[in-house]
Amino acid sequence: MNIYTFRDEEQFVQTGANLITSLLHTNPRATLGLATGSTPVGLYAKLIEMHRQGLVSFAQTTTYNLDEYVGLPENHPESYRTFMNEKFFNHVDIQIERTHVPNGNAANPEEECLNYDKMLEEFGPVDLQLLGIGHNGHIGFNEPGESLSGGTHLVELQEKTRNANARFFPTLADVPTHAITMGVATILKARQILLLVRGEDKAEIVHRALKGPITTECPASLLQCHPNVVVLLDQGAGRLLV
Ligand code: PGA
Repeated sequence: MNIYTFRDEEQFVQTGANLITSLLHTNPRATLGLATGSTPVGLYAKLIEMHRQGLVSFAQTTTYNLDEYVGLPENHPESYRTFMNEKFFNHVDIQIERTHVPNGNAANPEEECLNYDKMLEEFGPVDLQLLGIGHNGHIGFNEPGESLSGGTHLVELQEKTRNANARFFPTLADVPTHAITMGVATILKARQILLLVRGEDKAEIVHRALKGPITTECPASLLQCHPNVVVLLDQGAGRLLV
């Protein structure tokens, strides 16, 4: 695991963007696994900026997002499909039909999960999977517990996660109770993983995930099993690692 801590926000973001753009320079047809949440917003903005400067093209890139809320229409302002379109896809030369976000509004969510994994089997593996981490150690929406699911699956969101995400909804009651998420096995199939974490409030969970025991009670700790993980931290998130 290669762990880098940055004092400077710009360097933090630029390093993440460079990893992605150098992959695309080597292999323009690379498959990216993408994430939502506050953490990658700056990275997407940097990639858009680099695209506008002619430094990177996404024309041949395929993307698979980690997760999506269940029960929100695709065009709901807080759906992860909307997030990805607004924060990234609409501003670069990616072909929208090559971008994939689980359909949280599918009539049959179980079938949607199976199909998502089938697509990843057929067209994967993901070359680079971008990840954030929740305060409870979740990756994607793989919530801590006695066991974890390997493949893409339907998950009930924990109160901690719903509370953390309530800032984006009018009230807590509006936060969906379920989501579809890639499972940990699906995530770990990626050739390379890029974990980004910002903020002092994540320092404890970063320490547990990277230095603690590998346990389903901290899903991000399973990243320790992967041979090619790059972790980018700001100073706050890396505070307990020194
Ligand atoms: P955040 O979410 O980037 O909004 O902190 C990360 C996550 O919950 O995976």
